[in-house]
Amino acid sequence: MQENDQSVLVEIKGLRTYFHLAEGTVRAVDGVDMTMHRKETLGIVGESGCGKSISAYSMMRLVQPPGKIEAGDILFYKTPKDGSSTQSEIVNLAKLDPKGQEIRNIRGNYISMVFQEPMTAMSPVRTVGEQIMEAIILHQKVTKAEAREITIDMLSRVRMSNPQKVVDDYPFQLSGGMRQRAVIAMALSCRPHLLIADEPTTALDVTTEAQILNLMRELQDEFGMAIMYITHNMGVIAEMAENVAVMYMGRVVEQTDVKSIFFNPQHPYTQGLLQSIPQLRDAVAKTEHRRLETIKGMVPDPYSRLKGCPYHPRCPKFISGVCDEVDPPVVRTDDNHLVRCHLYA
Ligand SMILES: Nc1ncnc2c1ncn2[C@@H]1O[C@H](COP(=O)(O)OP(=O)(O)OP(=O)(O)O)[C@@H](O)[C@H]1O
Ligand SMILES: [Mg+2]
Repeated sequence: MQENDQSVLVEIKGLRTYFHLAEGTVRAVDGVDMTMHRKETLGIVGESGCGKSISAYSMMRLVQPPGKIEAGDILFYKTPKDGSSTQSEIVNLAKLDPKGQEIRNIRGNYISMVFQEPMTAMSPVRTVGEQIMEAIILHQKVTKAEAREITIDMLSRVRMSNPQKVVDDYPFQLSGGMRQRAVIAMALSCRPHLLIADEPTTALDVTTEAQILNLMRELQDEFGMAIMYITHNMGVIAEMAENVAVMYMGRVVEQTDVKSIFFNPQHPYTQGLLQSIPQLRDAVAKTEHRRLETIKGMVPDPYSRLKGCPYHPRCPKFISGVCDEVDPPVVRTDDNHLVRCHLYA
């Protein structure tokens, strides 16, 4: 047991997760630094392929070969589930045996994940109830009958209509929105300290998406858990997150509170992301047709590793001889504002 800042829940330092393929090495996560606090909602945002999911998989130790955590630490500040103490034990998830007892006690119990593809989260051949009960029995000392009661209670907490029936339904009998509620119920069944939600609403229509977002916020208050919310949608970030980490090519390039991300974005990449959001105002006021700004260029191919800042070929504020030569350091520009950019160094 160690003394520490009791509000810190996860600290990721220098995390690198690579895939070693015949074609070359994909540096999916290439030096991620990130801090999460208890009960906070941290939004992770960035273009497709920037390493959001692989960062989450690394935390859960679910990266499969040829993927491998090459370096770095994922410190999880573990406190007893029964709340008997606020003293935490620091567990370095990056160093655990991915098949060992310790990670199995954490995964699904302390840290749960709602995956990007809702259909892959549940087996099609077993009932919703069987699958949720399995997680409960694995981590809690309860009988099968008690696990069933907890499952029905959890289904009603995610506002599933008719939980008594749904518990015996198969996933294919549920609509997309209901299925996602069931997946959330499964993830929350052991009352985790951290829920990782990886684009949990991409497969849903906007109305259902809004319902699921509201539901997650309510449940977070009720359960007092932290949420890592992964998305490429800045609108969802504005809705859900208190703090935001912006990722680009396997790294966090900016981390701060949600207000600062929208009103004082510092990294040129974050600025570009915000400019590429269509303004409803402009669409409605047909008088002025503002062209949708896009960030020029494309994400470089994942096998190459650029010298200097990985964003420099696309950056409008590129400083020749600096940005293409030197890896930018992480700079603290304010109490709660970190940016990885030469402009601020
Ligand atoms: N199993 C794998 N084998 C090889 N490369 C992979 C594998 N999984 C992911 N990658 C690569 O790792 C990089 C990061 O992928 P990741 O899935 O984390 O992106 P992401 O930010 O979650 O994107 P999206 O928004 O599309 O979900 C990508 O270049 C991807 O192609
Ligand atoms: Mg992803």
